[in-house]
Amino acid sequence: MKIAVIGTGYVGLVTGTCFAESGNNVCCVDIDENKIKKLNSGKVTIYEPGLEKIFIRNQKEGRLKFTTSLEEGIKDAVIIFLALPTPPDEDGRADLKYVLQVASQIGKLLKSEDYKIIIDKSTVPVGTAEKVQLNILKELKARSITGSEELFDVVSNPEFLREGVAVEDFMKPNRVVIGTTSEKAQKLLGELYAPFVRQGNPVIFMDERSAELTKYAANAFLATKISFMNEIALLCEKLGADVDMVRRGIGSDERIGKRFLFPGIGYGGSCFPKDVQALVKSSQEVNYSFKILESVMEVNDAQKMHLFPKILSYFNNDLSGKKIAVWGLAFKPNTDDIREAPSLILIKKLLSAGAKVTAFDPEAMENVKHAMGDMIDFSENQYEALKDADALLIATEWNEFRTPDFNRIKKEMKNNVIFDGRNLFELYQMKELGFYYESIGRAAVHLNSR
Ligand SMILES: NC(=O)c1ccc[n+]([C@@H]2O[C@H](COP(=O)([O-])OP(=O)(O)OC[C@H]3O[C@@H](n4cnc5c(N)ncnc54)[C@H](O)[C@@H]3O)[C@@H](O)[C@H]2O)c1
Repeated sequence: MKIAVIGTGYVGLVTGTCFAESGNNVCCVDIDENKIKKLNSGKVTIYEPGLEKIFIRNQKEGRLKFTTSLEEGIKDAVIIFLALPTPPDEDGRADLKYVLQVASQIGKLLKSEDYKIIIDKSTVPVGTAEKVQLNILKELKARSITGSEELFDVVSNPEFLREGVAVEDFMKPNRVVIGTTSEKAQKLLGELYAPFVRQGNPVIFMDERSAELTKYAANAFLATKISFMNEIALLCEKLGADVDMVRRGIGSDERIGKRFLFPGIGYGGSCFPKDVQALVKSSQEVNYSFKILESVMEVNDAQKMHLFPKILSYFNNDLSGKKIAVWGLAFKPNTDDIREAPSLILIKKLLSAGAKVTAFDPEAMENVKHAMGDMIDFSENQYEALKDADALLIATEWNEFRTPDFNRIKKEMKNNVIFDGRNLFELYQMKELGFYYESIGRAAVHLNSR
């Protein structure tokens, strides 16, 4: 099939590349000229495991193209995916300006002899498919194109991929949700997704509004699970229980499940924070106060700060001139995405208290350099960051941090002090090695507790 993907960011690039990988001809469009230039020169613009290999293959075989021209991008396409940003507006609602502007532009370009399916892959509030449809219709009517309702369908097809495993998620999705009442669109999209669900995972057809809400419900539920576990962790610290034990104790119950039960320094990223907030706003607009989600946000905001008072207290409320090494900047491992990363919030707090920060992240340092400039120092590797550090703060659970060379850590650091926002190490191990160690929802290991 001939496909256009509008917006070539984390979702658009993965979507376009994976559809090309299953034999489709894909043209990806973006207004960012540098991005398109880089992609056209054979370089991937994001870090996503497994992406580069299939990107290069499909580009070489001519199935994957990039352009800044919307007209060129959609010219031959029957299916047009919108993978555009939906950031929060000043009130926390999903800002639809990118999606609706592109919808109008598509309306200006559609020809009377074409049938096209326009698909919202962006995460958008309930009712957006109708708005996209109206914007397109308005432009078609302005050009006196008749029979315009039959010319196109607007479908909601929310994306559930996770950054860090996006290619795997896209190639083998747990489910595909398609919101449309058009039989023609159902048939074409069923065919498009068939190669991705050969193992029997469902393609679930529903109406547009239910599909739109499904995406928000999924992210809000997962965010709730994280905040719930973070509160259990706080309670563990106060009551002298160990959250790792509690986690294992409840996770083996199938109704609860093992995943998303790890406490930490709060959820971040480009999705959970904005999507939970947008769902709360959508609820308010229909006079409903979504109490659980309001608490989920409150708990998450507090959780991002959880380690700060502990760090401050260890240094007798004086961080001036203290050197803190930070391992991990990305909002989660296996991505270079730093949007809403808890690490950055903690780092800013440390800097404002007078500390100096030297950071290392395997993939996200370039993005942080753009965002923070020379406010912090960066290291070539995880050990170099530790040189003369008064403490180490672990903010992202990259695999390479899990089994480090502890002797080297001790050799490089001024103090053997670790604040671990991701519970990477065992308490007994920290005791044996003689570290001062604070983590989340577990007892602190003091230097004299050997
Ligand atoms: N990132 C994720 O893990 C993820 C997962 C599921 C759903 N989503 C949703 O998918 C959508 C896109 O997210 P993302 O993370 O890929 O965003 P992104 O910011 O990485 O990418 C968006 C791209 O759209 C481009 N763009 C903006 N205006 C444009 C225009 N008029 N024409 C063409 N291109 C334009 C930008 O230059 C950018 O490259 C959002 O609604 C998000 O909530 C994201």
